Amino acid sequence: MRKAVRKAVFWGLGGMWLMGSAYAAAPVKTPAIVKTTCSACHGVTGISLVPTFPNLAGQGAPYTEKQIRDFQNHKRADPLAKSIMWGMAATIPKNKIDEIADYFAHQKGAPGAAENPKLVAAGRKIYMGGVATDHLPACMACHGPTGRGLPPLFPRLAGQHMTYVIAQLQAFKTKQRANDPLAIMRTIAGKLSAKQMSALAAYIRTL
Ligand code: HEC
Ligand code: HEC
Repeated sequence: MRKAVRKAVFWGLGGMWLMGSAYAAAPVKTPAIVKTTCSACHGVTGISLVPTFPNLAGQGAPYTEKQIRDFQNHKRADPLAKSIMWGMAATIPKNKIDEIADYFAHQKGAPGAAENPKLVAAGRKIYMGGVATDHLPACMACHGPTGRGLPPLFPRLAGQHMTYVIAQLQAFKTKQRANDPLAIMRTIAGKLSAKQMSALAAYIRTL
């Protein structure tokens, strides 16, 4: 009897493991619009070659869906959102948003090299511990200790281009980007100096 139970547990877990690995290995089809349109700037697997264009690879699907909707209804209105992504998002059919987001969520990120180790170390310190005297919380608390984000609300930052990260922090600070729930990022970026933004972006790039 006990042997039978052990056998059942063994095959049960084994089966789940097999199913799990089959799921993880299942290739996700590249949506047509990604090939024809988005890849020009974001790369076909979501790794962009131009640092003003964000990497989308590995981003949590709910965050990507929210951004596309925010571009479509003009809730995200920083300068490059307005001049580029409002037009791009307008070409995305409503019933394709989740497919696109799921595709990018399944792609692998690409961390950059630590070009300036001193700057990276300064950024790491703020990312991990915040700045108590300025009531600045640790970025880690919401974006995760490895920058992978905490879906559904908190985006992945790991490996993101420095130029893009700095531009977003500036846009939150000046409130040009105001699509963050409860003004979380506007409040946080409002406390950051340009120097701190560069340090944080340098560290995030290496994650
Ligand atoms: C001509 C270049 C270009 C093309 C083509 C383009 N994008 Fe973008 N995309 C950008 C830029 C620039 C930004 C940054 C906008 C900002 O600063 O607010 C961006 C931002 C985004 C973001 C937000 C990322 C984040 O981390 O918040 C998503 C999602 C996105 N694009 C999806 C798409 C999809 C899907 C397509 C194809 C339908 C597409 N883009 C086509 C240039 C482009
Ligand atoms: C209390 C939670 C919280 C903390 C702490 C936090 N963030 Fe965020 N962050 C968010 C949320 C939520 C968003 C997504 C806003 C949206 O939905 O558009 C975000 C978005 C961002 C983005 C834009 C990502 C993109 O792809 O466009 C950057 C960059 C960012 N955070 C950097 C930081 C840095 C650097 C710190 C630390 C100084 C930090 N965040 C601390 C909640 C947080």
